[in-house]
This record gives sequence, C-alpha cells and structure tokens, in this order.
Amino acid sequence: MSNYHIKHLEEYYQVYRKSVNNPERFWEEIAEEHFLWRKKWDKVLEWDFKKPEVKWFQGAELNISENCIDRHLATRANKTAILFEPNNPDDDAEHITYKQLYHRVNQFANVLKAQGVKKGDRVCIYVPMIPELAIATLACARIGAIHSVVFAGFSATALATRINDSDCKIVITSDGSYRGAKTIDLKGIVDEALERCEGVETVLVAKRIHSNITMKVGRDKWLQPLLDVASNQCEAEVMQAEDPLFILYTSGSTGKPKGMVHTTAGYMVYTAYTFKNAFQYRENDVYWCTADIGWITGHSYIVYGPLCNGATTVMFEGVPSYPDYGRFWDIVDKHKVNQFYTAPTAIRALAKQGVEMVEKYDLSSLKVLGSVGEPINEEAWHWYNENIGKKKSPIIDSWWQTETGGIMITPIPYVTPTKPTYATLPFIGVQPCIMDEHGKELKGNQVEGRLCIKFPWPSIARTIWGNHQRYKETYFSTFENMYFTGDGALRDEVGYYRITGRVDDVIIVSGHNLGTAPIEDAINEHPAVAESAIVGFPHDVKGSALYGYVTLKDSGESRNQENLRKEINQLISDRIGPIAKLNKIQFTDGLPKTRSGKIMRRILRKIAEKDTSNLGDISTLLNPECVQDIMDNVL
Ligand code: PRX
Repeated sequence: MSNYHIKHLEEYYQVYRKSVNNPERFWEEIAEEHFLWRKKWDKVLEWDFKKPEVKWFQGAELNISENCIDRHLATRANKTAILFEPNNPDDDAEHITYKQLYHRVNQFANVLKAQGVKKGDRVCIYVPMIPELAIATLACARIGAIHSVVFAGFSATALATRINDSDCKIVITSDGSYRGAKTIDLKGIVDEALERCEGVETVLVAKRIHSNITMKVGRDKWLQPLLDVASNQCEAEVMQAEDPLFILYTSGSTGKPKGMVHTTAGYMVYTAYTFKNAFQYRENDVYWCTADIGWITGHSYIVYGPLCNGATTVMFEGVPSYPDYGRFWDIVDKHKVNQFYTAPTAIRALAKQGVEMVEKYDLSSLKVLGSVGEPINEEAWHWYNENIGKKKSPIIDSWWQTETGGIMITPIPYVTPTKPTYATLPFIGVQPCIMDEHGKELKGNQVEGRLCIKFPWPSIARTIWGNHQRYKETYFSTFENMYFTGDGALRDEVGYYRITGRVDDVIIVSGHNLGTAPIEDAINEHPAVAESAIVGFPHDVKGSALYGYVTLKDSGESRNQENLRKEINQLISDRIGPIAKLNKIQFTDGLPKTRSGKIMRRILRKIAEKDTSNLGDISTLLNPECVQDIMDNVL
C-alpha cells in the first residue's frame, strides 16, 4: 500500500523517512497506484547534478490529459472539474463537468491539429483567466505540443521575447480581457508583439469582451467557429516520461527571462501527490487557488494537480477589489470553498480594508488556508488565521518555485503543527539543506544560510529552453552537487524552515518575481538616462516595492523630474508590464561603485530601506562621496 494520503504526524515522519531512504521505491509505489500509464517505466530515476541531468520514470509512456480527465469519466463524469467564476459577479458561474471538459479539450486539440500543430511544437497561450486558458493547456498536452503560457498582464515586448525564445508558430489569445471595471485590449498587444515575431503563422482568438478588433487575413482566426465544427474525440498522443510538457518563463537576476522546461511524468506525479496532501483534498471539496494560470502556481495547483485528483477547481477571472474588497469572501461563501490558496500580498491588501468586508460573508466552509509566493509576515499571518480561518483552518505557508514545479516545504494541514511565518517541514521526498557562503553545509538546528536541495524530486525543471549551460550555471554551480534555490533560509530549534528571502538580484513584488537587470535595461533606453540601479524596499502591501536610482546624461537636466519619472515608468510598462513599475525614483549625480566599476547595490538597498546604521566600509569605493548625497536626498 502506498502512502498517497498522509493523515498523522507520525505517518508523515515515517513516510518521509521512507522517501529519503529509498526514493526510487517510494516514488515508484506512488506512481504505480495512482496514475494511468500506457506503459510502465524501465528505470525510476537517473540523475547527476554535475551534468546536470535528471530523468524520472524513463521508458514510461503516458498522456497527462488522460490522467487529468479521461481517467475520471467512469466515476466523476458529472462532477464539476472547473468552476469558472466570471469577473462580473452578476454573471452566472460556469460549472464545467469532467465529461464536458473531456469534450472541450478534445475539440480544442482537434482545432490545434487542424492548424498544423504537431507533437513537440511550441504553442504560446496569452489568454486571460477564462476556461479557454485551462482548456488550451490541456489540449496541447493531449496532442503532445509544448505549451508556453504567458501571463496576460505582460507587455507586447515581453510577449514577443517569450514567443521568439521558444520559437512558437501559433499564439492563442482573446479579443480582450476584463479586469475589474477595466477592459484590456489583449489582441492589440498580440498584434504589436507579432511585429517582432516572424515565425508566428497563426493566431487563434477567443471572444470574450466582444470588442471591435482587427483580424489579420490569413493569420488570425476566431476560435469558436473552429471549435464548433471540430470532433469532440481526439486520441491522446502517447508521450515519453521525459517529453517536455511545458515551458514557463521566470525572471533571472540577469539577462533574458529563463524558459523553465517541465517534463511529463515526474511533474504529474509530484503535483498530484503534493496537491492531495498539502491541501488535504477530499472527494467533494471545492478548492480555490486565486493565482493566474500564467504563473507556475496556476499550472500546478489550478490545472494539473487538482484535475489529476479529480477535484473541483475554481478559476476566477476577476480581481480581489471588484466590485469591492469583499469579492474573495463572497466567492468563498457562494461556492462553499473548502481550500483557499492565495498570496501574502492579497492578504495584506484585504486586511487593510477592515473586517467589515469579511464579516458579511459565511466562511464556515473553509478547512485549509494556503499562502505562497513570498514570505508571509507575522501580522498578515495572524490576520488570515483569525479573520478568515477563525483560528480553525490551518495555514499552509508553502514554499516553492517555478523551477521546483511543486510545493517543497510546507506544513501538511491537520498534520504538521504550524508556526507563523514558517514554511515548517520539507514535503515528502524533499531533502533541503542550508549552506554557508563558503559551500559548507550547516548541519543541526538553529542555523541560517542559503537554501539548497540535495536530491532530485520528480518535478524539478529539467533545463532552460535552449540554454542548458545557463541552467547549470544558475542552479548547480554555486554549490557542488546541489540545486541552489537563490533563497536564504533558517532552520529553527525543532527543524522548521523559515524562508528569509532572495539572496540574488531578484525582487519579489506583490508575489511576482522581477529581475533587476531587464528593468534597468528598460530605464536606460530613455534618452536622458545615463545609468540606473534598482533595489527593493519594504512595502506594507506589496511586500517589496521597487526603488530606482537614476543618473542623467546631463545632470543639469532642466526637465521636470515628475515628467521624467512618468516617462521612465511608461518605458518599463511598455517593455515588461505594469507590474514592474517603480514606486520611487531618485535622481542622483552618481551611483556608488567598486573600483572595478560594479554598482554596490548593497549600499543602495540599505539607503532605500532607510537602514544606514551599518553601511560597511565605503572608503574603498571608487566614488565614496556620492553616498552621502544619495542619503541626503533619499525618498
Ligand atoms: O523567494 C521565494 C519566493 O518566491 C520565489 C519563487 O517565485 P516563483 O518562481 O514566481 O514561484 C512562486 C510560486 C511558487 C522563491 O524563490 N517564495 C515562494 N513561496 C514562498 C516564498 N518565499 C517565502 N515563503 C514562501 N512560502
């Protein structure tokens, strides 16, 4: 009997031991009993972090869409698979059953095939949170195409970079999207992006906001008429365990975004197993993750993990503030949500509104509360616990990454005692460790350093699309024979982990990972700008916000600084997206640099944080005099 569902703390420890003492045997049992395979594997695991190379379930054949849908038809055909809650609360929610999902995914898969999409082709999906987004991903999986979902809040430039990097021939989008009271012209953004993407031959357009858009003849096609004539039966492509399932871009501290590649079998097994346990999902529960499918949280815990378990997963199109700040709680009440998974930034924004917005609603259905994406501060943790969970629903502060594919460190609700701001214990099969700066492992408890993982887990990203060398350098070169997460962490006296934040130049703003380099590149495009440096500073809702130090080519620049700030933010918005706009921009005559010319971000960070008591020795800088000037003019 495998340990698919963990129910007690002793059982957790026992299963954990089994999973690290004999990982192959452990994962083989989980895989064998709970999934549908066309052919079983020849070898459970082959790995070498030095190369690096990781292969799980080699020789196995399967299709993940059959595991997410077909497998449930015998027992759950009329159960709601996707519960779609539209932006406008007056519009009806849509309950898509497993049977309907099966038909819709197959139709979509047939449309893709008719457009010439084949196994291994990359498909860019730039669609808002409407059912077509989930259906498109599953349709790609069904025919073996590799989906690359791009968050529909990214700009045309960001979209173009991603389309070109993975060489997508087809883009799926919609005429537009609703976002609270606003509408967004998504198709216009796609048109602009495609001016820079020569390889795209076809654009499929879903109708959502019924706006008047231009369709380019020969390239753009309305989706619905194609679906209407497509058969609702489509034989699933037989995939190898290590065939890529999707590419998802994440920011790096330097350079272009990294297209993380996740493969089929290991990703499926791990996301399904973590979903079942981290949320303690039971058959008739209604589960809701508020993330967008454009991020890994949505891939793993709106689509694949829940559907693999035959769950009912809520998909919400709107925003927490529309029509008012009670919207989340209204949805929990209306659909009797049992598990609710969101980000600390949303919790902080909602906590600011006061409890009246919560008290109007009946939240008694809630059993599990989740948090993900950034460290949750103590105040937000308590507010969530008291006002939403009424001190009865455990909070799972789950730590993981785009690269890890699934949850890595988390309490298991009703199993692991929680502790505010602590992600607590490693999930089954995960072997974290803490390293010092010199590459020595810090053993025992009460240690703090850099968080690494020693042993492969099934859903580790296998490479960066088109750049294996960068994958090796980013994750496997800092510490020998270890996966380096880029995060700092501490382990307390009982062995609980607390994530302390990024130790590289990635800044997490409202739960979104942002690399500083691309933002600086965008700013430097402004004709008046000589140089810039971005750092993070604490923000009560966003967690961290962006602070930009900018030097101008002509320091006597007579232009209005407010206008310059607006122009700089507009550039960032155009190049990356509104999420990367700066909260503060300080114009300065110089940036502190080492003698080799490297900008000392550590000093700039301290100044932005208004913590200048210990700036360290600045006398060795190339230009120490600028530090005082920057401090005097801090915003
Ligand atoms: O710094 C960690 C932070 O988010 C980073 C990963 O971001 P991304 O790839 O966008 O994936 C987010 C959703 C899985 C991590 O390196 N992070 C994520 N969860 C937590 C967290 N920091 C603290 N506590 C968490 N629970």
